[in-house]
Amino acid sequence: MELSDIVLNLDHAKSFIERLDIVKKGWEYVIRGSGTIYDTIYQKTGAGNDFLGWVDLPSETEEALLTDIEATAAELRRKSEVFVVVGIGGSYLGARAVIEALKPHFDTHNGAKGNPLIVYAGHNMSEDYLHDLIELLDGKDYSMAVISKSGTTTEPAIAFRILKQHIVGKYGEQEAATRIVAITDKAKGALKQLSNVKGYKTYIVPDDVGGRFSVLTPVGLLPIAVAGINIRDLVGGAVLMEKEIKKFAKDGNVHECAIYAATRHFLYTQGKTTEIMVNYEPRLVYFSEWWKQLYGESHGKNGKGIFPASVTFSTDLHSMGQYIQDGMRNLFETVISVDQSNHELRIPQEDEDLDQLNYIAGKRISEVNHKAELGTMIAHEDGGVPVMRLVIPEISAHVMGQLIYFFEMACALSGYMLEVNPFDQPGVEAYKKNMFALLGKKGFEEQTKELEKRLEVRDKE
Ligand code: PA5
Repeated sequence: MELSDIVLNLDHAKSFIERLDIVKKGWEYVIRGSGTIYDTIYQKTGAGNDFLGWVDLPSETEEALLTDIEATAAELRRKSEVFVVVGIGGSYLGARAVIEALKPHFDTHNGAKGNPLIVYAGHNMSEDYLHDLIELLDGKDYSMAVISKSGTTTEPAIAFRILKQHIVGKYGEQEAATRIVAITDKAKGALKQLSNVKGYKTYIVPDDVGGRFSVLTPVGLLPIAVAGINIRDLVGGAVLMEKEIKKFAKDGNVHECAIYAATRHFLYTQGKTTEIMVNYEPRLVYFSEWWKQLYGESHGKNGKGIFPASVTFSTDLHSMGQYIQDGMRNLFETVISVDQSNHELRIPQEDEDLDQLNYIAGKRISEVNHKAELGTMIAHEDGGVPVMRLVIPEISAHVMGQLIYFFEMACALSGYMLEVNPFDQPGVEAYKKNMFALLGKKGFEEQTKELEKRLEVRDKE
């Protein structure tokens, strides 16, 4: 069996917990009653069991779906200089995480027909943001995907209403309809009804896959394919990880993803309540954002859960480094350590050596970055911060697919260790209700009065 490329290294968490202990602890946490947490997931016996569609999703992805997505993406690429992804939370972060990880930082061809610039909307309600986006789109040929599982989320709905009018104004109803793809529930929600009426190409978000677990459905795959990334490599990586974890579970072994889950759970029980996802490659910034949503929304409930944070080093060593080294000791880190850069660049020799860098002349930038990583890990461990490292060989679609599945499964395992339902998000409703009440939405009249009174009292104070 082909093995996955991800290696979990606990060397710098050692002074806080021995690997052997954690394997034992892992078992303790993994075993539940007469079965294991794996059973909870594979036999679907736990809380939120109607949202476990992501478990077999990679290996069950149909060839016909991939071919269809590739064909749609090719057509959209052909006629677009810009492609707008309209969505929020799980309907946007996964696509952005993969696209930003795999596209060159400054893609000189990006923004030409055949290789559109990917931009995002509907993930905020900034008037200035939408204004500036429309200004960009005024002068470009563009197309878009509107993504919302529920089909009723306010932020993307507002952005889509505005962009829909713009695109229809620019191309007319008929052509606009060929430039819009909707990704939503098979039957429910305003977006589905709207798509039916307007005749948009539509992809379905499976019922049993929640937003934050949906990157390997059309929610992520369509925008990723429009960005020119090989979605088969991505899905293939996830299939590899899915099969490997399943085999470990079947053979009665604790996979590294369960060790990661058990380690973070153990550290949490020791008062380490904040986990910082660390990267040394700026193209992984949005991967951390995706991870933060996955873990924050899955675990932060009933007064429990590790707070997921993220930094990019060495950038943030010059802003957050002091706190991590020396601030409140409730932190631990998980570093995504990339073995190989995609390109080679060496520090040049200079005869004068006025900047005194000749001692590292001839070294690759990645070697220096790597030494910064090792030095930082030791410093943070010495400062009381346990550091886990996930070593990956490179940033590629195949490895990103593995990472996505690794973190999804670890998220489910961690959630069950914490004894919460990892697949719901009841807390997200609170702000929405207040916002609807303050906007005067029908059905919220009582709350409107109550909130306005509370705001008035505060204003007077
Ligand atoms: O993970 C989740 O369920 C959420 O983050 C949703 O993805 C987010 O709220 C957007 O919801 P929808 O896709 O229904 O617009």
